[in-house]
Amino acid sequence: MHDRAPGLDISVPNVARIWDYQLGGKDNFEVDRHAAETLNELCENVGAPDGRRVASESRAFLQRAVRCLARAGVDQYLDIGSGLPTRGNVHEIAQEANPLARTVYVDYDPSVLAHGNALLADHNPSTAATVVIKGDVRKPETILQDKVLRGLLDLDRPVAVLLVAMLHLIPDTAAAAAIVATFRDALSPGSYLVLTHTTSEHRPEAAVALAAEFERLKVTTPLVPRRVDQIRRFFDGFELLEPGLVSPPQWRPDTPVAPDDDSRWMYAGVGQTARAVRR
Ligand SMILES: C[S@@+](CC[C@H](N)C(=O)[O-])C[C@H]1O[C@@H](n2cnc3c(N)ncnc32)[C@H](O)[C@@H]1O
Repeated sequence: MHDRAPGLDISVPNVARIWDYQLGGKDNFEVDRHAAETLNELCENVGAPDGRRVASESRAFLQRAVRCLARAGVDQYLDIGSGLPTRGNVHEIAQEANPLARTVYVDYDPSVLAHGNALLADHNPSTAATVVIKGDVRKPETILQDKVLRGLLDLDRPVAVLLVAMLHLIPDTAAAAAIVATFRDALSPGSYLVLTHTTSEHRPEAAVALAAEFERLKVTTPLVPRRVDQIRRFFDGFELLEPGLVSPPQWRPDTPVAPDDDSRWMYAGVGQTARAVRR
């Protein structure tokens, strides 16, 4: 299994840079663009939405979800597997609704850390409440104990944990569920989980082919599309907010969208743990 932690290697396709390319970004190399185009062609050949559409729908969901939580008063965000900075980053959206919102970005990719720190070094006062830290989601306790994180987030108050387009990069389903459970149990009651995840639900054979293509192209992580029941289980201990686990465009769209035609590659949802009852 090609599950290496990435360095600054531009000879193999990198999952953060492929995602950046799919989102229309410029922080990618020929090897990433070639891999992205190969994956997109596979999708087109099976009549499925390609990576550009998947990435932009997932990202638009993330932005609506953060806006919605920020307007509801959530002021702490932990964005894990945050990716290369793009337009409409979590801290920018959260601070539009609440200038005091705090955001910790976590990624294990050095290029994400470098670009993130460059973005935050612009002396904009709004970035004082935002940091980028190095962390591997497979070690959730280490992330939670990080001193910089602890200096910015008050874990005695609710936090929104974002695992957007992230858990499908963790091959072991039980391990992925344990990661979510660790965050759920460590965080204050009333905390949130924001998630998108690639699914095999609507076209299982194409999902197997897509995962095999990730492997063949030697992308820095595997891709593990899961069935909807497996994805739903990541929300164990959370109550799903309306409209539940749906395709990204169906989650509280800003303007009316057509009903789903089962063509989607992803599920999206936002869950909240039970709030503490004050006696
Ligand atoms: C597909 S991108 C998603 C980026 C962002 N969450 C978004 O939705 O736009 C996945 C990100 O997860 C990061 N990643 C992959 N495996 C990771 C791990 N084990 N720990 C931390 N980050 C990881 C990659 O470096 C990449 O930046």
